[in-house]
Amino acid sequence: MRLSLRFILPLICALSLIAYAVVPIVDTLTFRRFVNDTEIRSELVTNTLHDSLVQLLKKPSPIKIRQLFNRAIKDDRIYALGFCTPQGQIKYATSLFPKKIKCEPPDSGANAHGRLLQRRHGLLHLAYRAVVDDGKVLGELVLIHDMSFAQRRTSETQRYVFYFFIILGVIIAIVTVIVAQLSWKGWIRGLRSVMRGEGLLRPMTLDTSAEIRPIVKDLRELVRDIDTERRARDESQITWTPRALKEILHNELAGDEVLIVSNREPYIHVKKDGQIEIHTPVSGLVTALEPIMRACSGTWIAHGSGNADRESVDKKDHVRVPPENPSYQIRRVWLSKDEEAGYYYGFANEGLWALCHIAHVRPIFRSRDWQKYVAVNKKFAQAVAEEATTDDPVILVQDYHLALLPKMIRELLPKATVITFWHIPFPNPEVFGICPWREELLKGLLGSSILGFHTRFHCHNFMDTVDRFLESRVSRESMTISRKGEQTAVMPYPISIEYPVKWLKTQKAVVECRTHIRRMHDMPNNHLIGLGVDRLDYTKGILERFRAVERLLELEPTWVGKFSYIQIAAPSRTSIDEYRRFDSEVRELATKINQRFGQDGYEPIHLKIEYYDPPQIYEFFRACDVCFVGSLHDGMNLVAKEFIASRDDEQGVLILSQFAGASRELPEALIVNPYNIDQCAAALHVALEMPRDEQRNRMRSMRGLIQEFNVYRWAGRMLLDAARLRRRSRLFEDIESGDEDRTRFRL
Ligand code: F6P
Repeated sequence: MRLSLRFILPLICALSLIAYAVVPIVDTLTFRRFVNDTEIRSELVTNTLHDSLVQLLKKPSPIKIRQLFNRAIKDDRIYALGFCTPQGQIKYATSLFPKKIKCEPPDSGANAHGRLLQRRHGLLHLAYRAVVDDGKVLGELVLIHDMSFAQRRTSETQRYVFYFFIILGVIIAIVTVIVAQLSWKGWIRGLRSVMRGEGLLRPMTLDTSAEIRPIVKDLRELVRDIDTERRARDESQITWTPRALKEILHNELAGDEVLIVSNREPYIHVKKDGQIEIHTPVSGLVTALEPIMRACSGTWIAHGSGNADRESVDKKDHVRVPPENPSYQIRRVWLSKDEEAGYYYGFANEGLWALCHIAHVRPIFRSRDWQKYVAVNKKFAQAVAEEATTDDPVILVQDYHLALLPKMIRELLPKATVITFWHIPFPNPEVFGICPWREELLKGLLGSSILGFHTRFHCHNFMDTVDRFLESRVSRESMTISRKGEQTAVMPYPISIEYPVKWLKTQKAVVECRTHIRRMHDMPNNHLIGLGVDRLDYTKGILERFRAVERLLELEPTWVGKFSYIQIAAPSRTSIDEYRRFDSEVRELATKINQRFGQDGYEPIHLKIEYYDPPQIYEFFRACDVCFVGSLHDGMNLVAKEFIASRDDEQGVLILSQFAGASRELPEALIVNPYNIDQCAAALHVALEMPRDEQRNRMRSMRGLIQEFNVYRWAGRMLLDAARLRRRSRLFEDIESGDEDRTRFRL
């Protein structure tokens, strides 16, 4: 409505000015027309009376002349009539003929103009016309017209013109409001259609249909998966819980040994002021895997990166966790500063991370980093070999830091079942082909029995890349790659979170969380809150979200002072130049926007570059009205799912980037292109104004999905697939032992 007023007010001003200028012109023109009419009328009356008057003058017959005049003035408009002698004296006149009017020479010619005379009782029009008989002038007729009707009509016209402009203004205003409302509704409908993958709004269909198509495809797959799984579950009775996972381990894998290997560890020991604190890192991988390990026990092999990690382990570099209720162990792998710089900061994060995310930051590949990457992968392989107590463990290898590890494990433990999960996007062959060590990485990954990605799209990218760069047989139908007599299944396993989340147990009611967060930020009671929770990483679209907030305040100034966006950004990979540059850019933009729109203690953006523990983050999730996940590219993004899990009040709106894997599972979110700032601003507006019922419907549906598609299902499906491979492989071994040429699934 405010937007419409901005059109209407200037319009009304402009119309008033035009009316002000136009009314006197119309006034003059109409009055002139009435005067002309009167002139013509005078001529007509004279012509009508002339001959009779001549006859009566000749006799002469004063009574009859007066009668003639009195008949003539029955016409309303004729006020009086008089007759002047050639000597200039009024000889005959009707009763109202004003005494002050004298005889004057007649107006001559057809276009003769009379004159106007303002009298106390109104305006009069005087016309003098000669009365002639056979060329002899007998006198002149004086016609006096009452012009008050013209004055009346003129002021009526003024009124009509005035009303005309008012009605015109109202009509234009109504049309403007309707058009503006319709366009706004069109936006909303468009956004919703994007969200549903339909693309109802034409411009958005044109611009984004290509980007939305993969989402629609994945959604169809998802619906099919849900259907198939429901049927299978009805038969097998699986509900995905920690207990179900334990049962799979026990029944399907016969209690086989499970090892997890990742770069990041789930608990970091940090010394602060002489005290050892235990931190949970900000990591999607940890969020997903930690509940699995709690459910399954076993060993988690990871880089010991905390400054108090060494003093917290036993002789075998083990530490039992979670601290409050130990149920599994971490085996820490130690890296020198040099190794960490080359393997983690260098090759993994300046190289592979930038390569796979396509967020317009160039990957940097240095051979010294590559050497460290190879050496550290070997170190991890060694740790796996040391930790394995059987010759055929199930090993879950995690992420792009350890791409060479599956092949190395295969060499050390040929009977192991290696399930590798790639937590970030996998690009197409052109992009991946940039990497100077692309073949080595692909071969390393193909050491896996099962290779998992978040989405089918990434699976296809991987298969296309292998097809392009390695001699192999790629079957898109069975989703397998065979190379040198070995086979790898390439499968989508959309990662998720535990449900219900353990952190919720200690959370206060949503209202209390909101009050607390508002109080913390000096916000009034009715203040609305937007929230972003990310690592401070250039792939997360933090700058784009700030710009969207800025645009929202530009387009809808009603939100100034009523809405703030809180961005939690956990410092990350701070030794890398690009991340430090990004840190300054984020701070600068937040300051700029706050300077532009901030006033009287109001800050549109609250930037919090610091670590928060999961319980604190969950309090923010519960307090906010809108959670905005704006990744420029993301494998899955578990923040989206955590937000949904946190909202047991079934309120709150999720705005989700179409480039995050999560968008393929959560069409009830407002799906946006984070590069389209206006669209994101519109999504914020829609989210902030969304009725509670609609929020509830969307949230309920998303919670339903996460409840079923939780992290136990993610791990359970991989473990079930692994169990199937192991069974099949054992069968082959029994039946076909000695057949060396056969292609078989690895154990
Ligand atoms: O979620 C994707 C991811 O790359 C994880 O693999 C990783 O643990 C997380 O981001 C955080 O990154 P880092 O471990 O480098 O802090």
